[in-house]
Amino acid sequence: MQTNLRGRDLICDLDFSKEEVETVLDVAWDLKRKRALGEPHAYLRDRVLGMLFFFSSTRTRCSFEAGMAQLGGHAAFIESKSTQIAHGDTEKEIGDILGRYFDGIAIRHCDWGIGNQYLNWVAEASRSPVLNMQCDLYHPFQCLADLMTIIEKQGRDLRRKKMVVSWAYASSYLKPLSVPQSLILQLPRFGLDVTLAYPKEFGLLPDTVEEAKALARKYGAGFEIVHDMDEAFRDADIVYAKSWGPMMTTTDAEEGKRLQDQYQDWITDERRMALAKEDAIYMHPLPADRDVEVTSGVMDGPNSVVFDQAENRLHAQKGVMALTMW
Ligand code: CP
Repeated sequence: MQTNLRGRDLICDLDFSKEEVETVLDVAWDLKRKRALGEPHAYLRDRVLGMLFFFSSTRTRCSFEAGMAQLGGHAAFIESKSTQIAHGDTEKEIGDILGRYFDGIAIRHCDWGIGNQYLNWVAEASRSPVLNMQCDLYHPFQCLADLMTIIEKQGRDLRRKKMVVSWAYASSYLKPLSVPQSLILQLPRFGLDVTLAYPKEFGLLPDTVEEAKALARKYGAGFEIVHDMDEAFRDADIVYAKSWGPMMTTTDAEEGKRLQDQYQDWITDERRMALAKEDAIYMHPLPADRDVEVTSGVMDGPNSVVFDQAENRLHAQKGVMALTMW
């Protein structure tokens, strides 16, 4: 167990070593148990988390806010549009000043080519830890909750389990690459064989894919890329299918939508789930485009773990905050 996490940022999934992630999960399960028993666990009394949002959220905002209250502290909700950022507050001002007010600064900034850089610049200027509530490249707290859920459903020994990270069609908007990027970096460290599936225009960052392959080699896990959703689902233990944008091909929204609309048959439905193992779990970080990305039958069906996954956001985040913000 590695416990040297006080004051540490979590911006990229790999900012914490595998052992440190295991510590986070241990603490998260302890806090989950305490909450189930009604045991107080006010480890962050008088501590304040500043939560700066450049993009909308349901789960992330609510789970960080509830988590800080349950830890005995407070979370301040700040929308970028209600600050002076548009009138000149730079990353340096935000990091240096908010770092003096708050014991942690959590930021969601998903703008392509900007978000991750913004978080890193704020972190450089801040004396308090910076926590990534999702940027253009990574969604590490989602990924911690996902890993926690996978272990709860499939056991601690994940070696030789097939995890599909698949693109799925959505009609609502072009979603960030951050969830699949985080998954392919984190999961090989825990022994899962990752199959990454997407239509050819929807690749992830080549550097991230190379990093994921290197991690898979290091940890003795498999890593493959396919361009066929049926092939990906065959014999899977875990199916994680969601939409993301074609940023590696185009950043033009109209062209992206045109590309996306070519692949409306990339949906998780009952036929595809039947290709996976009988006890395979279906995962999605939500929000999902119901009956577009995934049928309601699968999402509300016996293999779906999406609500447990959403709940685990709360416990995983409390684990990180309790370890980094005291
Ligand atoms: N999964 C997730 O991050 O949800 P929100 O966008 O609602 O925060």
